[in-house]
Amino acid sequence: MLKDKVQKALNDQINLELFSSYTYLSMSAFFESINFEGFASWMKKQSEEEYSHAIKIFDYVHQRGGKVTLTKLESPKTEWNFVLDVFNDTLKHEQAVTASINSLVELSSAEKDHAAFNFLQWFVSEQVEEEASVSKIVERLKMIGDNTNGLLFLDRELGKR
Ligand code: FEO
Repeated sequence: MLKDKVQKALNDQINLELFSSYTYLSMSAFFESINFEGFASWMKKQSEEEYSHAIKIFDYVHQRGGKVTLTKLESPKTEWNFVLDVFNDTLKHEQAVTASINSLVELSSAEKDHAAFNFLQWFVSEQVEEEASVSKIVERLKMIGDNTNGLLFLDRELGKR
């Protein structure tokens, strides 16, 4: 059985993963609005991935005999300056998600919930990958700057995801 504190923190993480999904879908809509279909498609896939993270925790809470309580989602941001601004926000958002996962890991350890601690290790590794892939995109965008050809090339490349 899950302790209340751990159950509450897992429910909060479900909300954060769903908010991530919502945020990336909003970024996808923004890219559609400025005709970068590849970036839009990348963000849509990212949104789907975040939804799958939420479901992973949703299923886990139930597997442990706990209760999932869905709560209100914050409205996502809808406008950005340009491409780099969106990916900078993505990186900041992923860093915040990493901090939240780390707090959950610390809580599960303090509460001696070894099963939850073990379950969360998948998310710890996933965050390393996510931060690395977004950092790489941010670095490339910084190199590209205002070069339209460079942006179109990266748009095409990320659209292959
Ligand atoms: Fe599920 Fe990108 O954090």
